[in-house]
Amino acid sequence: MQNVLITGGCGFIGSNFIRYLFTNSGSSSPGVFQGRIINVDKLTYAGNPQSLTDVETRFGDRYVFVKADICDHAAVKAIFERYPIDAVVHFAAESHVDRSIVAPDEFIRTNIRGTFHLLELAREYSNNLIRFHHISTDEVFGSLGEGGFFTEHTPYDPSSPYSASKAASDHLVRAYSRTYGLPVTLSNCSNNYGPFQFPEKLIPLIILNALEARPLPVYGDGMHVRDWLYVVDHCAAIWLIMQHGSDGETYNVGGRCEMHNIDVVKLVCDLLDSKQPDSGIGSRQELIQFVKDRPGHDRRYAIDCSKLQNELGWSPAESFQSGLERTIDWYLDNRQWVERVRSGEYRKWIEAHYGEK
Ligand code: NAD
Ligand code: TYD
Repeated sequence: MQNVLITGGCGFIGSNFIRYLFTNSGSSSPGVFQGRIINVDKLTYAGNPQSLTDVETRFGDRYVFVKADICDHAAVKAIFERYPIDAVVHFAAESHVDRSIVAPDEFIRTNIRGTFHLLELAREYSNNLIRFHHISTDEVFGSLGEGGFFTEHTPYDPSSPYSASKAASDHLVRAYSRTYGLPVTLSNCSNNYGPFQFPEKLIPLIILNALEARPLPVYGDGMHVRDWLYVVDHCAAIWLIMQHGSDGETYNVGGRCEMHNIDVVKLVCDLLDSKQPDSGIGSRQELIQFVKDRPGHDRRYAIDCSKLQNELGWSPAESFQSGLERTIDWYLDNRQWVERVRSGEYRKWIEAHYGEK
């Protein structure tokens, strides 16, 4: 693969993936990819080009950024005309469940219509294309009871406008494989956490609120279960699937790390109490507030990722404790990034829809 088109590369997982490819996630060993990356991103509230400043500086000769909406067919077509794209990695999406409940329109537009446009272009320029990798979520499967795991064969049963829009996009991707022979792979991953995550998602929201002695909102009884995966482990899985996955196949990705939300929040509090003690705050667990539950809130997610482990030899490097410590350290060290993403449009939106959060 020489020319890889990445959509949504200025978001949380996309920016980590680009850094992973070029630099092996900032480590001193060389990156896993030697070609050119073209990153197309609309820069919504969740897209921040400053998440890739280091990449632009170091790899400017192999990194191209195009500010465009994936629904803008002509703009994305121009990229396929200009570069012989041989792989597409499709991250771009509206990604926050709570927003999808309040304002679903953009989710339908970007996640379904945007994926359709991209598939059409991939089909038109398929001579060169060896891989179209679609990034999806375990949320398409709906909610589990006390036991069991999502496998690649679990029927889709999405609960939120977000997960329904992702389910629709997954179906489109598979249809393009079966109907037109597009060389697709898909991954359905559990909840990611790590550097550069927009602070509306649980872990960064709790870290920042806890630092600032603000209330820590826990939905419902806090006993909902999510399976957590450090973002770089997800990036490694994606790259492995792109290279060694089979055409038309789906791979579940997860951390085998089920946690109740309340336990995640308490662990963040305890780590911050020891890393950044504040006598004015005392124990940060005191800041926890149980708030009204999210409508349609899925009770439990848990991923069976044995296909990916057995067939492609993937396993996560980071434990939840080590990954969370890295994440907290990153947010402590990168307050400027935080302040920037929390200002402007994001702030206006939050004020309009939720009041202060
Ligand atoms: P994010 O919200 O942080 O980033 C999304 C990016 O897409 C942003 O840079 C945004 O500007 C861009 N974008 C949005 N609409 C666009 C459009 N119309 N045209 C071009 N760019 C557009 O999301 P994320 O958490 O990085 O998630 C990336 C992908 O991974 C999504 O497809 C999501 O469904 C999936 N996923 C996320 C998680 C998770 O825990 N975050 C887990 C599993 C799967
Ligand atoms: P979130 O990070 O929004 O991811 P997702 O909804 O895609 O799983 O939420 C993770 C879990 O945390 C989910 O069960 C909802 C819950 N949650 C809270 O309890 N409080 C919050 O403020 C947020 C944002 C989420």
